[in-house]
Amino acid sequence: MNEQDFILEPYNKAIENGSYTWQSPSNIALVKYWGKKESQIPENPSISFTLDACKTTTTLRFKKKIKGDIFSFDIFLDGKKQDDFKPKIETFFKRIEVYLPFLKDYHFIIETSNSFPHSSGIASSASGMSALALCLMSIERESTPEMTERYFNQKASFLARLGSGSACRSIEGDLVVWGNHKEIKGSSDLFGIKYPYKVHKNFKNYQDTILLVDKGEKQVSSTVGHNLMHNHPFAQERFKQANNNLSKLIDPLKAGDLKAFIEIVESEALSLHAMMMTSLPYFILMKPNTLEIINKIWNFRQQTASNVCFTLDAGANVHVLYPEQEAEQAMKFIQNELVAHCQNGYYICDRIGFGAKQTQ
Ligand code: PMV
Repeated sequence: MNEQDFILEPYNKAIENGSYTWQSPSNIALVKYWGKKESQIPENPSISFTLDACKTTTTLRFKKKIKGDIFSFDIFLDGKKQDDFKPKIETFFKRIEVYLPFLKDYHFIIETSNSFPHSSGIASSASGMSALALCLMSIERESTPEMTERYFNQKASFLARLGSGSACRSIEGDLVVWGNHKEIKGSSDLFGIKYPYKVHKNFKNYQDTILLVDKGEKQVSSTVGHNLMHNHPFAQERFKQANNNLSKLIDPLKAGDLKAFIEIVESEALSLHAMMMTSLPYFILMKPNTLEIINKIWNFRQQTASNVCFTLDAGANVHVLYPEQEAEQAMKFIQNELVAHCQNGYYICDRIGFGAKQTQ
């Protein structure tokens, strides 16, 4: 597949109005995407667990209007008009218009809500952009009903990528790869694919307890962070490392080797933050409590046979990952030792999920 394959063919069916609702989850990368080329093409491949509880629900209402030169839409978050989201959606529409030429034919009302508080520091761009891309694909499918499920998902992921890179990994589950990798069959820079190889039962229903260390606005956005990878002194090594780490993950995923899995996942999280610290300008998104939590996880693993580990996204919050069979012991540890480091004791219990769902 290439970009041309996603350009909508001319069609005759005129749709006057309608509405679609999709629920789309967030995802957490195990091998991280950090650094991109033009058109949201990643500098290296990444792999993520699709999440289950952290999700965005978006209803897209659309009504035919006289085709004009502008995108016409209103956006609401939890029922409140949210004009400050408009520039981001406008940029998204501009990027995808060539693939969805009907965008200027309609006035859209986008109603969105998240299962997690907006101010929690959990990025809603992956779940939000993927939910919107799926609603738009439902409109496309109405005029081209012969579309296959595979094409629908691929194009939804392709469009979501143009909204926010990591959003392309939120369409399906439970493990998704985005970015061309020589050992992963079917992988593409243009969209996410379901991880195509065997995964051991140790990773079934893997748990992710998200510890909210800092709910504040990030000092440096992902967009700025990605851009700082241009001319970064360690960029090329980092892109190689991510490729190697993805290669190295294939066997542990197959064999259920949790120790090897932990080593790759934690190293990836720290490498991501090392890139931030060695950018110019340099920045640190971890907070003292992020480090307290990491140290406690390492101590706990040393003292017990636990396979609890951590990963981080572009922020201070910590994703605590562990196998389902260790859930009871892990939750005790989290409650007794880690929750004290969360802002207002706030955390979210999540787990691997299986992708987006249409609800209307
Ligand atoms: O999708 P973006 O542009 O917000 O970038 C996400 C980057 C990380 O979350 C840090 C890593 C990843 O692969 O999800």
